[in-house]
Amino acid sequence: MPTQDGVRVPSGVDGSVPSAARIYDWLLGGSHNFEADRRFGQQLLAQHPYTRHMAMLNRNFLRVAVEMMLEAGIRQFLDLGSGIPTVGNVHEIAHRHHPESRVLYVDNEAVAVAHTEILLKDTENATMVQSDACDVDAVLGDERTREMLDLSQPLGLLAVTLFHYVAEESDPARVMARYRDVLAPGSVLAMTHLFTDRATEEIVELMRRTQNNVFPRTREEIAGFFGDLDVEEPGLAPVSSWLAHQGIDVDQDAGAGRLLAGVARKR
Ligand SMILES: C[S@@+](CC[C@H](N)C(=O)[O-])C[C@H]1O[C@@H](n2cnc3c(N)ncnc32)[C@H](O)[C@@H]1O
Repeated sequence: MPTQDGVRVPSGVDGSVPSAARIYDWLLGGSHNFEADRRFGQQLLAQHPYTRHMAMLNRNFLRVAVEMMLEAGIRQFLDLGSGIPTVGNVHEIAHRHHPESRVLYVDNEAVAVAHTEILLKDTENATMVQSDACDVDAVLGDERTREMLDLSQPLGLLAVTLFHYVAEESDPARVMARYRDVLAPGSVLAMTHLFTDRATEEIVELMRRTQNNVFPRTREEIAGFFGDLDVEEPGLAPVSSWLAHQGIDVDQDAGAGRLLAGVARKR
């Protein structure tokens, strides 16, 4: 595989336009990013210094949500918008406790897909599908999905910082409704999503220079993604307060509160 800026990339990838997956990787201290991603990330941090902390809290949320799912007896996971593998990937958390757990990753970004495939080369019970997560038929109909997941059993569904990259014209509410519909009773959905305010509007402007536009939503719109699932305490909450509620000592940075987090169960 060719390299750009020392990062292995599939041919055809344009590293000159930053991508959300690679900016997030850079914010978390990863190395699968290009000069353009790092330059953009520095500008983002200069204007919105809380965004690195927000990325770290988000990754913490993912870990805690997977642990809650494992505790609830869930042994299969669908991670939508899984990103570039970094510390604490879903299969690593799940396999540490329950090696029999099965994990299907979905992302549409070529670098994220390539690096996940490399990481999973010798891993059983985890695989990657490159797809638009909004194409529910493509995701659920993929042969690897059908091999990896048994939808008659409870599923851990993760949509962690995914849907704020999805425009209204892709109808994210309907997409989520379709995923919720296939969940067996006992399944758990975990989601984070950027909340709309003046600062996030500035992030929207900045992100226009990347491959991923950002669409923050109101609290009601984000709550709507959970449909009639039972949202667990503390409800849909700023990610920092959500983690604090789980007994995790985190810096209650107001900026990072712009990311709302929630976990909900299907009866
Ligand atoms: C900020 S990363 C989040 C990674 C991981 N979920 C986490 O929270 O740690 C967002 C990921 O969503 C992916 N993404 C954005 N829109 C997508 C779509 N429509 N279908 C699949 N993946 C998408 C991006 O490529 C990126 O890898």
